Formats: sequence, C-alpha cells, structure tokens
Amino acid sequence: MSELIQALRTPGAAPGTGQVRIGDAVSRVDGRDKVTGQARYSAEYVPEPDHAGLLYGVVISGTIARGRIRVLDPAAALAVPGVVDVIWHENRPKIRSFDIFYKDMTAPGGSPYRPLYDSEVHYSGQPVALVVAESFEAARHAAALVRVDYDVEPHETYLLEHQGRAKKPSRLKAGYTPPPDVKGHPDEVWDKAAVKIEASYYSGVEHHNPLEMFATTVLHGADGHLTIYDKTQSSQNSRWYVSHVFGLSKDKVTVRNPYVGGAFGSGLRPQYQLPLAVMAALKLERSVRVVLTRQQMFTFGHRPETQQRLKLSADADGTLTSIIHEAVAETSRYEDYVEVVVNWSGELYACEHIRLGYKIVDLDHASPMDMRAPGAAHGVHALEVAMDELSYALNMDPLALRLKNYAELDPTHGMPYSTKELRECYLQGAQRFGWERRPLEPGTMREGRELIGWGMATGMWDAMQMFARASAVLHADGSLVISSAASDIGTGTYTAMSIIAAEAMGLPLEKVRFQLGDSTLPVAPIEGGSSHVATVGSAVAGVCEKLQKSVFKLAKDLPGSPLATARLEDVEFADGEVRLRGIPGTSVPLLQVLGGLTAPLEEKYLMLPNMLKQMKYQRATHSAVFVEVRVDPEFGTVRVTRVVSAVAAGRIINAKTARSQIIGGVVWGIGQALHEETHCDHRLGRFMNHNLSEYHVSVNADIHDIDVLFVQEDDRIVSRIGAKGVGEIGQVGVAAAVCNAIYHATGQRVRSTPMTPEKVMRA
Ligand code: MOS
Repeated sequence: MSELIQALRTPGAAPGTGQVRIGDAVSRVDGRDKVTGQARYSAEYVPEPDHAGLLYGVVISGTIARGRIRVLDPAAALAVPGVVDVIWHENRPKIRSFDIFYKDMTAPGGSPYRPLYDSEVHYSGQPVALVVAESFEAARHAAALVRVDYDVEPHETYLLEHQGRAKKPSRLKAGYTPPPDVKGHPDEVWDKAAVKIEASYYSGVEHHNPLEMFATTVLHGADGHLTIYDKTQSSQNSRWYVSHVFGLSKDKVTVRNPYVGGAFGSGLRPQYQLPLAVMAALKLERSVRVVLTRQQMFTFGHRPETQQRLKLSADADGTLTSIIHEAVAETSRYEDYVEVVVNWSGELYACEHIRLGYKIVDLDHASPMDMRAPGAAHGVHALEVAMDELSYALNMDPLALRLKNYAELDPTHGMPYSTKELRECYLQGAQRFGWERRPLEPGTMREGRELIGWGMATGMWDAMQMFARASAVLHADGSLVISSAASDIGTGTYTAMSIIAAEAMGLPLEKVRFQLGDSTLPVAPIEGGSSHVATVGSAVAGVCEKLQKSVFKLAKDLPGSPLATARLEDVEFADGEVRLRGIPGTSVPLLQVLGGLTAPLEEKYLMLPNMLKQMKYQRATHSAVFVEVRVDPEFGTVRVTRVVSAVAAGRIINAKTARSQIIGGVVWGIGQALHEETHCDHRLGRFMNHNLSEYHVSVNADIHDIDVLFVQEDDRIVSRIGAKGVGEIGQVGVAAAVCNAIYHATGQRVRSTPMTPEKVMRA
C-alpha cells in the first residue's frame, strides 16, 4: 500500500518546467483537468449552445439466453409522460444486413451480432429495445413497463459441460496466430521421462469493469451531421462502424473520445449503446444519450472461461525436455473469438519437444472479448504454475529452473529476440525481493496464525507496432500542436506523446499540446495490445524529425547564423535552442528562428512499421514477478503482502505513468488470482453477480507493497523510439506467482482461478 500511496504522491516534473526528456517521471498533462472535473466523458456532453433538447435512451436487456422475441408491447411505456419512442427491431430505422457492414476493425471471424436487427436472441442480456424520453427518469421508468414475450429455446452456457464439442477455430481474424505445429516428439519424450508433471487449470469468466460506464452521446446537427461522443478505444473504429451499419458517408459522422475512463479491451469493439443511440438520433432527428447501467456492463463480452492441460518433463538436472499445452476456451455461436493462449509456451523456454493445442466451444453467450493481456493472462498463468510444479518434482529452486532453461533464441521459430533482458529481470527482481533467503521446502515460514509463502513467475507479452499518421503545427511563439486520432484510455497517451515531441523539439512540456480522440485527425490504430506508444509515439517522433529539418534549414539561413555550415546530425534541439552539440555558445534560439515566419510550420508523417526487419525477430516484453503471500490456513484467506515486478519493456517514455501501468497490471493480477469471477446460473444462462458488490475487484484493503523496477532495454527494432509498451505486461504472471506462493506457504496447489478461500481450504 505504502508504495501505491507513494506513487500517487511522487510529484514528477510538473508539466511545463524546463526541458523534459524521454524517461523522466512526468505528471499527467491532463491530470488537472481530470481531478477538477474539466475532462468530460462521453455521457457528459450536451447539445450546444443552449443545452436543450437532449433525449435519453434506456436499454431494455433481454432475459432469455436463446430464442426469439414473440411480442414486444410498448403501449404502457409510451403512455408515460415524456416518453418519445420505444425502438425495437420492428420500428427501428433502416440498418444494413450483411456481416461485412458490422465488422469493426477488431472483429473476430464470423457473423457479428447486429443490435436490434431482428427477433433473434443470442444471449442473455442482449439489448431488445431502447426507450427514449425527454428525461432519464421517464425513460428508466418506462423501460420497466415494456412487456417482452419470448419463444424460448434450450441454451448451453457451461464450457466444462460442452467440452466435447471443442473444435479448432475456423473463422479466424486477421493478425491472429494459431499455435504452431508440433516440434520434435513431445508425447514420446514425456512418456519416457523420469521427471514429469501433468495438471489441468481452470479459469472462470471475468468482466472488464472499467470505472466509466459505456456511454454514447449523439449530437444531431441541424445539417444532419452526427457528432458522437463515444466511450471507445478508437474514435475511428466507431466512426467506421456507424458509417457502415447505417450507410452514412464518412463526412456525415464524427466520433470523439477525448477522455476514456478505463476500458481494458472492452472498448476495442464498438458496443451496442453506440448503434442504439445513433438509431434514435436518426429516427427522431434529435440529440440522444445512452448510458449503460453497471449490470449492462456485463452484457457484451468478457474474458472467456478457459480450461487448460499442461504436461512438462525434465532431465534430473532440470533441463526441460517436453512441453505439451492444450487449451479449450469458449466463444459465442456467431463468432469464433480467438486469443493466443498456448503459443507463449513455445516462446519462453528452450525446449526441443513442444506440442500446443487450442480449441473453442461455441456457447450461448455474447462473444468473449480481449481483456487486458488476453490469452497470456490465462496461458502464461498455466505454464508458470506448471513450471512451479515441475520445480518441486525436481526439488529445484523455481527461479533456478527458469534460468536453467533460459531461451536465447525463440524456441518455436529459432529467431533471435529483438531485445530480451529477462535474465536481468530475474536477477534484479530476485535481489530486490530477497529471494535467496527463500527456503526450498513449502510450509516452513509462519508468523502467528499465518503461513507465509514466496512464489515467482515469468511474464511475457507482445511488443507490437501498427501504423499511424501524425501531423504537426509549430507556431511562431514556439507552441507546438501534434495531432493523431489516438486514444488515451487512462494510460497516459497525452503525456507520453507530449514528452516525445517536447524532447525532439527542445521545448518545455507546456508548449506542446497533443490532440487525440477525434476521428477527423490523422489515422491512428485502436489503442490496444500495448502498442500505442511504439506506434503513435513513432509517428510523433517522425513528424518532429521533419519539423527539425525545416527549423534547422531556417536557422542556417538566418543572417550571420552560427549554424551556417553545420549539418543536421551535429545539432540538437534543447532548452528552446537549436545548437551545435558539445560546443557551447553556437546556438540559435528557436523563437528567433520562428520569429520571421508568416505562417506556422506544418508537417505530416506516415509511420509504417519496418515489417521486413521486424519479422526476423521475436518481439516481446518480459517480466519476472516475485510475490509474498500470507495465508490463514483455517479460513483459506490469502493476503498478497509484497510484490516485486521487474519489467523489460524497451525504453520507458514516462517513468511515472509507466510505473503506474505496471502497478495497475499487478492489481489486476491480484484480482485474477484471488477475486474476479463472473458466475453464470446455467439454468438461466445468465451472469448473476453483475454488480460491483458481488463481482469482486481488488480494493485498497487487498493491495499492499508493490515494487516496480524497469531493467534497461532499448529496442530499435520494435520502434524508432526504443519503446515496447507497458499496458499489459504488468498483469502477466502475477496470478501464477500468487498461486506458487500459496503452494510455498501451504503445500497445497490450487489449480483454478480465482483462488477463493474455499478452494485454498480444500486444496
Ligand atoms: Mo487491450 S485487451 O488490447 O485493450
């Protein structure tokens, strides 16, 4: 806890003072707006100028898991004063039919769900109607009066019951990598091995639960233009979706998401409140706001229920001889949601014999969705618990086992890693934690009634780069505006991009403004996969390099310029000057260069990843996580009292917010380990604990010391700025380290998450 509070108190450089550099600890440039309420979220916009005429839509959620809507009777709702309309599939405005129009930029393979399209019900909680009224209260009251009758069909919602139907995903999305074919002869090797383990691991459904509810405000312009404030991880993805679903030209729709109150993957795809709000706006030619309830936040996707089986074998000295990892996960009936669950097991440890398998079972749920570190959160968990089990079978220290099998080349493809400072993570993390004082024997540390255990695990996540554009405008007063349709879902994009630009141009942070969150800005990818800094940051660096060239040329051409004969590579931009590196006094103030301008300097840049170079390397972030737990054996309660997370994620742009990202990821890992699970009543096919009192996320009382350290790494293959990304790596491995620490404390192995007290007691 003290660490967390300390992090909150760490001042960081106040925005605007002095020359900021990449790697400094900088407070958020949008921090003041956020804490003073100036930052507005999607549900907080109103029609200008008079704030009048906003309609409120309330979603009616279906109550059956599979079947058809037989009758929907809106009469009682329409009789409520203030109610303007009840919109359902029979009276909605025209929307398109074909799948292709519903494919957002991250859609899995299959037929996307089409909200209010027809009478078919695909899952419990599916929206069946939207009640629209002059006030939220009238809409909410009226929504309770709408009668919906269904023809109910039998449903299947429990993965473990229907595993027999597991199949290989056939409808794949672009960019998904299926697990590779078998390497060597893993089954034969495992069968004959002297030391081996075999275990199954189960992980329940989890929901994202960002603080901000999904919400859309559609401002209907007099000219019919729609300005849409949407909670999303990409304004351009939502814009694309609305244009396609409703057949509207691109210039009739603008989507904005300047502030997003957390998303964690739930906003990678447009959510149904967006098309519902647009339907109402188009039908009624009014401005409309639709905000989901916390219960409805459990009705559009989740981290999939997953069952895994691991088999590992080793020689007596700890050399891994085989890895067999198979997973079965749920998807919906209409899409093949896929994630990379098992591939990590072929990318982390040197091993000659590897077999990986991944299958899905279609169930009557909404399609699962990416949720922070999708696939790795489960897959690396199972691998890292299995490695711990193997270490006990070998009577070997779990860290020593990892070091023994350290992969210098990617075991699956034989490729080098672009950078991989995992060994340093192990060593520095272990030292910080005090790992060498750990007794090998479980159940040997105790304080009062609590058993103490120390566990560790490895983490791994992709280091991806997409493509992006950025534009820059440098004004005569030295103020710089950089724009890209990026997002900041709370991760610190505004600040990181401002730092990159300020350093490049030698400006104080206060002179730089980074504009994001608007679909009309230069193209940027969805903020996801921990790739935004490597992607958008590289575009920002690229556009600034073009600006530097223009400024340098102007500086050279000034009468009597000390830089007249200089070359660009000899100068640096810092402290408001363009100056010769290492030669004091040979400088030109930036303001003097810009002073003569009659128009601002403008540049544009398209950043395309160097795919030919990148594909020759395995590109990933790594971490080593060390955890102390205290277990009360009589109650089965677990406290995670100490965590050290040592991370190798390339160059760190903002030391303060990067650390916050890792702390947040660790908190998520503790939630995965101990608290988070959405329970389905399979008789109804419905998630029952759909609220924050019964769906438990970690709270302050659950969080104790979290120590983050970044090891030195600089990866110019992943990105020109050397960064890899920190959004997800912080979570991976944490739950496994907790599980392994529980074993070390108690000698009991819990092979299902979350590891709630009744499981810890009966393990
Ligand atoms: Mo993340 S699950 O790619 O938003």
